Amino acid sequence: MCGIVGYIGREQVSPILLDGLTRLEYRGYDSAGLAVFHPEKGLQVVKARGRLQALWDATQQGQAVPGTMGVGHTRWATHGAPNDINSHPQVSQSGKIAVVHNGIIENYVKLKEFLEAKGVVFASETDTEVVAQLLEYYYHGDLLDAVSKVLHRIEGAYALGIVCADEPEQFVAVRKDSPLIVGHGVGFNMIASDVTALISYTREVSYLNDGEVAVLTRDSIQVYDSLMRPVTKEVVHIDWEISAAEKGGYEHFMFKEIMEQPKAIQATISPRIQNGQIVLDELNITQEQLQQLDRIYVIACGSSYHVGMAAKYILERLLRIPVEVALASEFRYSEPIVTERTLAVVISQSGETIDTLAAMREAKRLGARILSIVNVVGSTIARESDDVLYTWAGPEIAVATTKAYSTQLAVVYLLALDFAKKLGKLNEQEYETLVAELEQLPEKAQMILDHTEEIQYFASIYFNHNSIFFIGRNIDYAVGLEGSLKLKEISYIHSEAYAAGELKHGTISLIEDGTLVVALAGWNTLFEKLMSNVKEVKARGADVIGVATQTHAQKLSTQVDSALVIPDVHPMFLPSLEVIPMQLFAYYVALMRGCDIDKPRNLAKSVTVE
Ligand code: M6R
Repeated sequence: MCGIVGYIGREQVSPILLDGLTRLEYRGYDSAGLAVFHPEKGLQVVKARGRLQALWDATQQGQAVPGTMGVGHTRWATHGAPNDINSHPQVSQSGKIAVVHNGIIENYVKLKEFLEAKGVVFASETDTEVVAQLLEYYYHGDLLDAVSKVLHRIEGAYALGIVCADEPEQFVAVRKDSPLIVGHGVGFNMIASDVTALISYTREVSYLNDGEVAVLTRDSIQVYDSLMRPVTKEVVHIDWEISAAEKGGYEHFMFKEIMEQPKAIQATISPRIQNGQIVLDELNITQEQLQQLDRIYVIACGSSYHVGMAAKYILERLLRIPVEVALASEFRYSEPIVTERTLAVVISQSGETIDTLAAMREAKRLGARILSIVNVVGSTIARESDDVLYTWAGPEIAVATTKAYSTQLAVVYLLALDFAKKLGKLNEQEYETLVAELEQLPEKAQMILDHTEEIQYFASIYFNHNSIFFIGRNIDYAVGLEGSLKLKEISYIHSEAYAAGELKHGTISLIEDGTLVVALAGWNTLFEKLMSNVKEVKARGADVIGVATQTHAQKLSTQVDSALVIPDVHPMFLPSLEVIPMQLFAYYVALMRGCDIDKPRNLAKSVTVE
């Protein structure tokens, strides 16, 4: 959601900014722009609505906008339509200060009124313009001083890149509740919303903390805290391969990432299983703290929330501790019952989702211990947690998550088994069997991925449906939620996921001739019950795709129109296998409908506004 890139150095900056913005495209946006300083031309601002290609074209691949210092932005519209006026950079009245911004300035109306009363004329509908105008109001020859004054007046979430035509030897970056990273180069320095925009130029980065301000010149980066005291930042080396963030011959990132799942699951579990024993060195939680836990909250959004739904079944079954799964955006407003004996398991691919971050901070404030499951190393959620278990999925670019979901599940299994062992809830034999099954998951996932033709065929039969239902019981229901979300996100087909037994309490009224129902029947002991639900919908005209394990393959094929069989697996690990056909089905359906799979409409990869 919105992307920022900034550069100061000796190279022509526009192509660098455009390249960085291209790498941030996946975050989601609807317009883009650049502000570049040139000694003779001053501050040049170019903006273009729509895809980034329009900005590449408008600047003749960057060549038409010379200069060696500037900032760029991809905007996901919040305040005002996505047009050239509302796009960033936003400039001050005189045109000498330009600002790019991620986040929302919550008190912008009041500040706008204040400035208008002083005669300032606003050009856009954005909250961001207030920052540019306020900076000019406070600017008396010292940009850092003006920034410090503005920070005392603005409220909300922001990552800002600020350039001033009167101070072309430097630019300023600020961060509060919205991600921003500083990249250390030789003879140049950069900022970006995330590392994917930086790694072609530098792998040495520092993560700004909330309230910190960075002043970048070609040869130095000075960071200040919110009281403008200099602080020394740790420099972290990023070892992600650039190729991991490129398509590598695949048509879409989503398909590449679906295919990468066995490898990603392997990378997440292998280093943590030694001689058949799970070793989670990263955890700081003590045996005593573990024994005192009387409640677990899983807090997350979207697909990460669906992992949480599956985690509830797994953790409760193994630990016999009550687990509540909370939508992060609701958690804060639900007066949650949290004590020092509560563990909050916070799940997030990006580690920057603002709803999740806010809920996590609330849980912490109320006394919970925070254990996060995060993919992006150094992200805010990871840094603010008591314990972090990283998923080693590598960069995930497609908006629709696949490999991050699978690795989050893998971490949940590791955690559940480790805690169960430590709490004496599993005997040695049960533990060994489950760990051995876990180790087989990458291979079983690969078996499904080796035969995508069948799923592609089913997609070709059903891609024209307007409404698709997913049903399942127990953990299968959690997978249905994810299958339904995948389909909605990228194919724009209306879809609902229901606990299969709940259908007859209302939703079954929507089933009519030709309605497609995807029935997840992996949980072996509930197979027959699920087949009864299949009969109910078939009796009302539904077409049914059924998913079950090899054990029930034969029976399944007699009950449904299209059968998808997955390898036999312990029910606890079902989501990891069942989800793959769901992802592929959504992918192929979207492909056949001609949708923009990696950049679905209205969506952003990292949701950094509430
Ligand atoms: O980065 P996070 O895991 O915190 O993101 C949470 C959701 O925004 C995310 O899972 C979203 O639902 C995905 N687009 C699903 O594919």
